[in-house]
Amino acid sequence: MSNDDAFLDLRGIRKEFGSFTALKDIDLRIRKGEFVCFLGPSGCGKTTLLRIIAGLEVQTAGEVHQAGRDISRLPPAQRDYGIVFQSYALFPNLSVADNVAYGLVNRKTPRAQIASRVSELVRLVGLPGSEAKYPSQLSGGQQQRIALARALATSPSLLLLDEPLSALDALERQRLRQEIRALQQKLGVTTIMVTHDQEEALSVADRIVVMNHGVIEQVGTPMEIYREPASAFVADFVGKVNVFPAQISAGHLSLGELRLPLGAQHRDGSADGGCRVYLRPEDVLARPIAAGDAHVFDAVIEKIEFLGSYCHVHVGSAALHTNKLTVYLSLNFLSEQSLAIGSTLRLKLLPERMKVF
Ligand SMILES: Nc1ncnc2c1ncn2[C@@H]1O[C@H](COP(=O)(O)OP(=O)(O)OP(=O)(O)O)[C@@H](O)[C@H]1O
Ligand SMILES: [Mg+2]
Repeated sequence: MSNDDAFLDLRGIRKEFGSFTALKDIDLRIRKGEFVCFLGPSGCGKTTLLRIIAGLEVQTAGEVHQAGRDISRLPPAQRDYGIVFQSYALFPNLSVADNVAYGLVNRKTPRAQIASRVSELVRLVGLPGSEAKYPSQLSGGQQQRIALARALATSPSLLLLDEPLSALDALERQRLRQEIRALQQKLGVTTIMVTHDQEEALSVADRIVVMNHGVIEQVGTPMEIYREPASAFVADFVGKVNVFPAQISAGHLSLGELRLPLGAQHRDGSADGGCRVYLRPEDVLARPIAAGDAHVFDAVIEKIEFLGSYCHVHVGSAALHTNKLTVYLSLNFLSEQSLAIGSTLRLKLLPERMKVF
């Protein structure tokens, strides 16, 4: 993306708290209308970066540009965004209508206009007619919908969401994340959502920014992040992955007793020696396996975790020198083959899906 295509442009953002560096030279460009997730473990700097974009925290170095303007030193009130926080930050003593109207009143919008805008917004977030209620009369999910309506009231061009779903139960979280995505698409508002839930990020984002210890590890579409992780950290943090110790020598990869030609999967140059191979559970197959297939090995079932339509099956393999390999098998397959704990089964690796770090 060129500078001109960026709606939000973060240039060399650095943040120090005393002697602790929370963000190290963050460069990031976000397109107009994009839905971006900041994803990373606790303490990696997601909230700090979001607060710098909002002007609630001042960066130690670097610039923030929005819509072609340097807003690095603008106070929050002069910036163009709406924000929703993790904990329900509605004013408890104000009705839903007054909560939603808050930003409009501050802007001295005429009363009649406010009333119609408020009813439009509560309808938009699926709570029509709730104007007279108070936050304590709403469920957590309803409160976050109202917080969303409040954030959108002034039609900001940027929506900032800091873990807006983390206090909700699993079902409500899934429902609301899809509603937020649908609303974002409908309004076309550029959105940044902070989360440490990788499934949430994969399911709603156009692009994911994976952060760790104050740096960006990778920026990519959900598919790129999942299928082409740029580092061991990303492979581990996003999705389930099997990790095998392996050896590289003379252009080959030795994985226990399997020997594979080293291909595109190798990322860290071609130095001989020890390495680690990363392979997703779905890239270890129990079928189809045909006579003469390469990369086949025997494994013994150690544990079967039943998850409904399919199972996480933990196996050990003497051939691969591992006792910690997870594969996904359907319940039908397990019963068809009469597989149980202690059974031996034949598996196949997909070498083209391996990542070597
Ligand atoms: N005001 C502050 N003073 C000192 N250190 C701070 C301050 N705010 C944040 N930090 C530190 O900066 C780091 C990043 O914090 P931040 O809140 O951005 O993390 P996060 O990625 O949002 O984590 P979480 O997922 O737990 O919300 C943490 O180590 C935190 O302790
Ligand atoms: Mg945070």
